[in-house]
Amino acid sequence: MTRKIIIDTDPGQDDAVAILLAMASPELEVLALVVVAGNVPLQYTRINARKVLELAGRPDIAVYVGCDRPMRRKLVTAEHVHGKTGLDGPDLPAPTMAERSQHGVDYLIDTLRAEPAGSITLCPLGPLTNIAMALIKAPDIAARIGEIVLMGGAYFEVGNITPSAEFNIYVDPDAADVVLNSGVKITMIPLDVTHRALATDARLAAIAAIDNQASRAVSAMLNFSERFDRVKYGWDGAPVHDPNVIAYLLRPELYTGRQINVAVELASELTLGMTVVDYWQITQRPRNVFYVRDMDAQGFYDLLIERLARLP
Ligand code: RIB
Ligand code: CA
Repeated sequence: MTRKIIIDTDPGQDDAVAILLAMASPELEVLALVVVAGNVPLQYTRINARKVLELAGRPDIAVYVGCDRPMRRKLVTAEHVHGKTGLDGPDLPAPTMAERSQHGVDYLIDTLRAEPAGSITLCPLGPLTNIAMALIKAPDIAARIGEIVLMGGAYFEVGNITPSAEFNIYVDPDAADVVLNSGVKITMIPLDVTHRALATDARLAAIAAIDNQASRAVSAMLNFSERFDRVKYGWDGAPVHDPNVIAYLLRPELYTGRQINVAVELASELTLGMTVVDYWQITQRPRNVFYVRDMDAQGFYDLLIERLARLP
């Protein structure tokens, strides 16, 4: 039985690797990509999503364009990591496939209403703007979403865009608050986990050794996007974030976590976007999130390499 997913994404090299992993995994039926502003402005993420699908030989996958800015705050981007286009590294051809005309938020609403309740997993890989806007516009969809498995947040690993906040949550903390309080089943893949998924030289070499079109592009992507984090963290590899969402769907046994409360700071300028994780269950706040805390990093890379080899 395949699992129906919708990927909400701000590609972004690591988003691109997540999309490729999903394309190579027959266990998943990717209904569509919905793009959002995040790593780079929407004008680039909407192109990048289609570039990646064509790289995977999947121009049949629908791409819907969502929100071009956070619900309330000014857009913050991350060109310092991802480059001006958001997909710097490989020289991918301009896409020829078309976007769908319906707005991404309306696509989410209509699809969740049309498909059997609980049958769809939403996989946000960027700011949560589209998901939150859909929940606000159509509150009835909350009961119809099977699960949200998102990359975002941090606690023990602290922030990456500020000392206290992870990028996806920081860009649209108001959207994160809507999602966290929606009552939907949520699994959070935070920096606490993705900082274990280091793209070491050996792992990059194994990806390059696949030597197909997709892996050559992934090599170029990761070699570009890793330069900033390798200097910043001084580790023997840069963390790779978004593909862990897809890997979690494919092999959940690679990940461990606990059901606890996660809330987000909305007021303080010092800690805006911080995910306050009640890891030791000190409060009586509702346990709204399955918070993933650890992973088998080599198991993740073994899976990623095996699946990338299946692509063109
Ligand atoms: O903090 C990491 C997250 O921010 C990843 O999703 C990356 O693509 C960026 O969007
Ligand atoms: Ca992302």
